[in-house]
Amino acid sequence: MTDIRGQVVIVTGASSGIGAATARAFSRARARLALAARRVDRLQTLAGEIERAGGEALVLPTDVTRPQDIEALVGAVLNRFGRVDILFNNAGLGRIGWLEGLTPDEIRLQFEVNTLGLIALTRAVLPVMQRQRSGHIINMASMAAKIATPGYTAYAASKFAVDGFTQALRREVAPWGIRVSLICPGGVETEFGEEAHIERRTGLTTPGLLRLSADRVAQAVVDLARRPRRQVILPWPLTIAVILNRLAPWLIDWATARYVRTERAEEIASAAGGRHGNR
Ligand SMILES: NC(=O)c1ccc[n+]([C@@H]2O[C@H](COP(=O)([O-])OP(=O)(O)OC[C@H]3O[C@@H](n4cnc5c(N)ncnc54)[C@H](OP(=O)(O)O)[C@@H]3O)[C@@H](O)[C@H]2O)c1
Repeated sequence: MTDIRGQVVIVTGASSGIGAATARAFSRARARLALAARRVDRLQTLAGEIERAGGEALVLPTDVTRPQDIEALVGAVLNRFGRVDILFNNAGLGRIGWLEGLTPDEIRLQFEVNTLGLIALTRAVLPVMQRQRSGHIINMASMAAKIATPGYTAYAASKFAVDGFTQALRREVAPWGIRVSLICPGGVETEFGEEAHIERRTGLTTPGLLRLSADRVAQAVVDLARRPRRQVILPWPLTIAVILNRLAPWLIDWATARYVRTERAEEIASAAGGRHGNR
């Protein structure tokens, strides 16, 4: 079991939801925090809270899509703490909806933040961990990185890429003693859903029993830092769905297509009417 007291932890997307909850949880475990996101006011409020509770937190205004911000972030962390023990690559967003309704910018943005931003920051932090011959990179994916469902095309693609990146990197850096993990939560109660317009655009919601709080995910991340594993899926019953998706994809195909047929019945019917009309 790794002792995380005094360890230096970078959390991206620390201004809300899972990132903010995880920063609080690491701080309670006596880790030293570097908080990165674009909304500096929120980071400052969180840092104040952590410091009042006796912790340590550095605020780093960061847009992970900007190379200069990434360079500045790593420089500031080394300047203050001299090392990086844990990188929690959590910043991300979703733009959920039927593919033809997504704009090219919405599709591009998900890859720029969820995938390319994560890769760029990892690449910048890696030499530090290689010099230390230690470190733990925890990449936030999603259940959408394991089971791609209707309405989640671009988002799932950006998270599947995170899964592939994580798997290759884990094998690449193991000889340095660096651990690399993937975390795949199902639906979490955060601002993510509002921004992603999940319900408005597709009618899809996660069943209440499977919904998680940000604190529950935060605890899972801290547990993962203490006891590194390749991957964590939560809540655990979703592991069954992941296995089913691999062994019997036809079953998930059938169930999800049935859902879309109901959800989009009118559009499907009017498209069929249009075809007849064109004859
Ligand atoms: N909520 C869910 O159901 C769910 C499920 C599985 C996985 N996830 C994943 O969990 C992660 C956190 O999401 P959340 O649910 O906590 O949502 P959230 O409350 O909306 O938090 C997203 C965080 O990402 C940051 N962010 C967005 N764009 C950024 C950029 N260009 N540069 C730096 N930071 C950026 C935001 O900060 P600023 O806006 O201040 O920059 C914010 O702190 C995401 O990767 C998401 O895909 C969420």
